[in-house]
Amino acid sequence: MSDQKTFYVTTPIYYPSNKLHIGHVYTTVAADAIARYKRLRGYDVMYLTGTDEHGQKIQKRAEEEGKTPQAFVDEIVVGIKDLWKKLDISYDDYIRTTEDRHKKVVQKIFQQFVDQGDIYLGEYEGWYCLPDEAFFSDRQVKDGKCPDCGRPVQKLKEKSYFFRMSKYADRLIQYYEDHPEFVEPVSRKNEMLQNFLKTEGGLEDLSISRNTFDWGIPVPNDPEHVVYVWLDALTNYLSAIGYGSDDAELQAKYEKYWPANVQIIGKDIVRFHIIYWPIFLMALGLPLPKKVFGHGFLLVNGDKMSKSLGNVIDPVPLVDHFGLDTVRYFMLREVPFGEDGTFTPSSFLERSNADLANDLGNLLHRTLTMVEKYFDGKVPAIVPNATPHDEALKALVAEKVARVEATMERLQFSHALTAIWEIIRAGNRYIEQTTPWNLAKNEADRDTLGSVMANLLENLRIVSILIQPFLTRTPQKMWAQLGISEGEATAWDSIHQYGAYLEGIQTKKGTPIFPRLDLEKEREVIDQIMINTSKKHAAPEAPKKEQKPQEEKAKVEENNYIDIEQFSKVDLRVAEILEVDKVKGADRLLKLQLDLGDERRQVVSGITEYYQPDELVGQKVIMVANLKPVTLRKERSEGMILAAKEGDRLVLSTVSADIPNGTRVK
Ligand code: ME8
Ligand code: MG
Repeated sequence: MSDQKTFYVTTPIYYPSNKLHIGHVYTTVAADAIARYKRLRGYDVMYLTGTDEHGQKIQKRAEEEGKTPQAFVDEIVVGIKDLWKKLDISYDDYIRTTEDRHKKVVQKIFQQFVDQGDIYLGEYEGWYCLPDEAFFSDRQVKDGKCPDCGRPVQKLKEKSYFFRMSKYADRLIQYYEDHPEFVEPVSRKNEMLQNFLKTEGGLEDLSISRNTFDWGIPVPNDPEHVVYVWLDALTNYLSAIGYGSDDAELQAKYEKYWPANVQIIGKDIVRFHIIYWPIFLMALGLPLPKKVFGHGFLLVNGDKMSKSLGNVIDPVPLVDHFGLDTVRYFMLREVPFGEDGTFTPSSFLERSNADLANDLGNLLHRTLTMVEKYFDGKVPAIVPNATPHDEALKALVAEKVARVEATMERLQFSHALTAIWEIIRAGNRYIEQTTPWNLAKNEADRDTLGSVMANLLENLRIVSILIQPFLTRTPQKMWAQLGISEGEATAWDSIHQYGAYLEGIQTKKGTPIFPRLDLEKEREVIDQIMINTSKKHAAPEAPKKEQKPQEEKAKVEENNYIDIEQFSKVDLRVAEILEVDKVKGADRLLKLQLDLGDERRQVVSGITEYYQPDELVGQKVIMVANLKPVTLRKERSEGMILAAKEGDRLVLSTVSADIPNGTRVK
C-alpha cells in the first residue's frame, strides 16, 4: 500500500440537454485548478466529472430533435468531451449515468433503501420544474413559477416512491453543527436550514421515482417506475469510484478515495447536495464528503445568462479567439470563489491587457531582452545583497508563496492569483528600483547588473511554477524562453531553493506571450460571439440535409427579410409607465409597472444610466407585449420596451400623440 495522500474532487454532472456554456466551464475550470494544485503538491488525485443523462428533460429534448434519448445524449457528450479537451480539463474519470457501472449501483442502493424501510409507495401531487428536475409544493410555488429558477412549473399527480427524509433531518442538523467546515460558504447552509430544515413541518419526504415517462433507471422489482433523476445523479460520486462493485480492485478504489475531499457545485443545486445527498449517505451508513463548496454564479453583463437576453456565451469561440489561458485566468481571478461575478467584455479585455500582457508578459519580455543585450542571454550569478532592494524582493516572494499555499487550501483561487500577481508586480518594480540601464553604464557594476538579472529570472521561474494550476499553456511557454525544461527546476518544492537552478543557463527570448488587445475591436468580437451563441441556443440545429450551394444562397437572401405574417406575430402596444423602482442588487436595472389598457405588466429594463425614475413616470412607450416572460434578479419581466440606442445615448420610443393605453402599434 502506498502512503501517498489522496484527494478526491468532483464537479456536478451536467445535463447533456444543450451545449455547455461558460457557466459550466467555470465550475469545471475551478475544479481543475484545485486538482492540478494538489497533484503538484504530491497528492494522488481523483478528479471526476461527467454527465447526468436520464430524466424527463432529456427525453423531451431528444423527442424535439427526433432522436432516441441515447443517440441524442451520445452526440452531445462527444461535444462536451471535446470541450474539456480544449480547456485542458485534467479529469481522471468521466462518468455517464447511462453506463452499466452506474446503473447497477443505483438499483442496488434503491433496493437497500427499500429493504431498510426508508422507502414507501405513495402518490405525489404537486409541482415539477422540468429544467431543474425538481419537485415543489403549493407553499413553495409562487404564481406558477419555480422558486429556484423562476421558470413555469407543471402540475404533477402520479404514483411514486418516497424516501423518508424526515427520519434523518435531526441527524443532518446535528452533523452541520458538529462539522462547521462541511458546507462553504456558510451562508448557503444557513439558507437551507431556514428554508427546508427548520421550517414548521420540518423536512418533507422526497419523491424518488417517476412513472409517467421511461427514460431512466428502472426501479428494482417495479419497472413501471424509473428512479428520480436526482437520486440517480447523486449516486455518480460513488459509482464512479467503484462503490457497490463486486470487483475487488474497484472496491479498493472506493476505499482509497471516499469520502471526497471537496465536491464543487454551483449555488443552484446546493439543496440537493447538502440535504438529500448527505441523507442518502447516512442511510447507506457511509461517511459524508469532507466539504461541499457551493460557488456563486458567473453573470454576463450583470444578468443571469439566458437565451432571451441573448447573453449566453459559448466558450469555444471565446477560447479560439482569445486563447485558453486568458479565459481560465479571467474566471479564476475576476470572481472571488463563492460569490457571484460578472463577465463583461471590458472586464475580460482589461484583465487580459493589464494583468497578462502588461504585468506578466512585459516582465518576461523586458527581462529576457536585457539578459540578451547585457549577457548574450546567459543567466548570471546571484550576488547576495547586491542592491538594497534584494532582501525585500526575496522576502516578498516567500510571503506570497506562503499565501498562495494557504489560499489554495481554502479554494480561494482569486486570492492565490492576486498573491502571484504581487510577485510579478514586485519584479517590475525591482527593475524600476535598480535601473539596470544605469548599472550597464559602469563596468564596476557588472556583477550587480548580473545579479539583478538573475533575481528577475528567478522571480519569473517561481511565477511560472505557481501559475500552473490556473494557466495550462503559459508555464511551458515561459520555460522555453527561460531555457529550463520540465523537471527539478519546475517542481513546486524548488520554489523554496531560491536561486539554485538558473545560473549558467541559456535563455531564449521569444515573442511576447500575451498580445495587447485593441479594446474596441475585441469588444465587437465578444458581442458577435454572444449573438452567434444565442442564435444557436434558440434554434437547435435541424437534422442535416444535403443542400446544394444554389439553394443555400437563395436561403440567405430570404433570411434578410421577414414577411408580414412574421411581423404580425410581434404584438406591439402602447403602454404607460405607472411606477418605477430600482431592482434590488442590480444597479443597472429598473423595474417598470406598465399600464396596457386592460392589464398591468412588470418589465425589467436596463435603462438606469439614461433616465431618472421621475422622468419615466407618465411616459407612453411602445412595448413588445408577447415576448416570452423571463425572471431577472428574481424579478419577473413580462415584455420589453423599445428604445433607440446609439453609442452611449438611449432614447425611449414614445408615441407622438395621446392615444389609449393598450392600442396596437402596426
Ligand atoms: O444541475 N455560473 O446540471 P446543469 C456558474 N445535472 N456556474 C454555473 C452557471 C453559471 N452561470 N450555470 C451553470 C445539473 N453552472 C444537474 C447536476 S449533480 C449530481 C447533477 C454550473 O447542467 C454550476 O456548477 O444544470 C451548476 O451547479 C451546474 O452548472 C448546473 O449544471
Ligand atoms: Mg440547471
